[in-house]
Amino acid sequence: ESHQLKEQMLAGKKVLISAGPTREKVDPVRFFTNRSSGKMGYALAEVAAELGAEVTLVSGPVSERISHPKVKRVSVLTAEDMYKAMHAHFADQDIVIKAAAVADYRPKLVHEQKVKKQDGNWQIEMERTKDILKSLGEMKTNQFLVGFAAETNNPLEYGEKKLLQKHLDAIVVNDVSAEGAGFEGDTNMVTYLNKAMHQDEVSIASKREVAARILEFIDRDMKDE
Ligand code: CTP
Ligand code: CA
Repeated sequence: ESHQLKEQMLAGKKVLISAGPTREKVDPVRFFTNRSSGKMGYALAEVAAELGAEVTLVSGPVSERISHPKVKRVSVLTAEDMYKAMHAHFADQDIVIKAAAVADYRPKLVHEQKVKKQDGNWQIEMERTKDILKSLGEMKTNQFLVGFAAETNNPLEYGEKKLLQKHLDAIVVNDVSAEGAGFEGDTNMVTYLNKAMHQDEVSIASKREVAARILEFIDRDMKDE
């Protein structure tokens, strides 16, 4: 790796990370989800642990695995489960990073039995889920709170809006339409924007390397406060 990790930079720190998609059931055999692989969140968890942090990783359903002794994984499925898990762990954290791709909507009605196909269309009414990050932003005390913004257009403009609306300390803006960035891949490129509106660009690199840079920016900004 080209970037040297600052040894034990996060020793003594508690870090809560959410990763992956959520899954919202329609019936016992069908669900809505999204393209998140969890790779960026898992890279953050692994690198934070290597830097000495005690990490709690709240994870939606992904094929990624992690075995670092300093990472405790909590598995969830739905946005509602993720909300509960994040709130249950939030109080005593130093750093909270929401890399998860949370479903914005879920089926209003979950069928107990498999829905049989019929002639014609099937309309599914969707209702909003809770905004987990926004709820954490409204109740935070000393936690350094970091969101992600997945955008296909005007990424910085939308990113800045989310930073302000969700009361974040920083946001990692991800242009998911850019080559080498976004969902399933092993690389990413992001812009880290803090609440002083200072921008740090991370050009294309492995998700591990991007994770290390993000954690460095966070550590720097926590010391500046
Ligand atoms: N987020 C969340 N709970 C939700 C939706 C989003 O905690 N119900 C978090 C994500 O984990 C991410 C940030 O909010 O850290 C931004 O997510 P994103 O999907 O980019 O933005 P939204 O606010 O959901 O707006 P939109 O999807 O309309 O762009
Ligand atoms: Ca969303």
